Amino acid sequence: MSSSTDPSPPDSGSTRTAAVWAALEPILAAGPLRVLDVGGGTGGFAVPLAQRGHTVTVVDPSPDALALLARRADAAGVAAAVSGVQGDGDRLAEVVSADSADLVLCHHVLEFVDEPVSAAAALATCVRTEGWVSLLVANQAAAVLSRAVGGRPEEALALLHGQPDGTRHRRFGIGELHDLVGQAGLSVEVWHGVRVVADLLPTLEAGAEQSAVVRQLEAVLAQRSPYRDLATDLHLLCRR
Ligand SMILES: C[S@@+](CC[C@H](N)C(=O)[O-])C[C@H]1O[C@@H](n2cnc3c(N)ncnc32)[C@H](O)[C@@H]1O
Repeated sequence: MSSSTDPSPPDSGSTRTAAVWAALEPILAAGPLRVLDVGGGTGGFAVPLAQRGHTVTVVDPSPDALALLARRADAAGVAAAVSGVQGDGDRLAEVVSADSADLVLCHHVLEFVDEPVSAAAALATCVRTEGWVSLLVANQAAAVLSRAVGGRPEEALALLHGQPDGTRHRRFGIGELHDLVGQAGLSVEVWHGVRVVADLLPTLEAGAEQSAVVRQLEAVLAQRSPYRDLATDLHLLCRR
C-alpha cells in the first residue's frame, strides 16, 4: 500500500477529476482518514483513496456498482480498506453511524436523491466535528448556457426555471448550494468550478483540452468568479 502523501492518485489524469483531487489534496495529506463515499459507485475515488492508505466506506444503492467496487478493490490489493454498503443517501442514518468519518465525499449524488436538503444534513451528521464534506454537483448555469449555445433555447429557458428536462438529473446554482450547506450545519471553506472552458471547446482539434495552456487557463478560471460560476460542475469543500 502506498503512503497517504503520494504526490498524485492513480486516476488523476482526467481533467474532470484532477481538479477535485487537487482540492482534496491538503485534507488527504493529514491522513490516514476514515472516508465515507456516499454514492461512491464503482470506486473511482474509493479505490485510489485506499491505495493511498485511507479507509473507505462506500454507500450506494446499486448492488451492481458495489460488486464492481469489490472487484476493483480486490484487483488493486486494497480489499481490506474498502467496504461497500448497500444504502441510500436519503436514509444514511440507517447504515452509517454519526460522527464516524473524517471526510465525507458526495460526488454527483445530490442530483439524484429525493431530498437534497435532508441528504446534506445526513452527510453532516456522519462527519465528525471539524471534519470535511466534499460536495460535487452539476451546475445549473452551465447546463442552461450549453443548451442555449447548442441551439436549444426552449430547453435553456425550461432549465433556468427549474422545470424537468426529461432526465432525473437535478442541477444546482452556487447560491442554492451555499444555502443548502448552511442549513445542514456546514460551512463552505472553499469552492471552485470544474471544467470552466474545457466543455466549450468542441470546435478545437481533439486533445485541445489537454494542452498545457488550456489546463493552465482552467486552473486559474476555476478559482475565480464570475468564471467559476459557469463551470460544468461545482465543487465545495465544507467543514462541520
Ligand atoms: C453519477 S454516479 C457518481 C459516482 C461517483 N460518486 C463518482 O463521482 O464517480 C451516481 C451514483 O449515485 C448513486 N445513487 C443514485 N441514487 C442515490 C441515492 N439516493 N443515494 C446514494 N447514492 C445514489 C448511483 O448508484 C451511482 O453510483
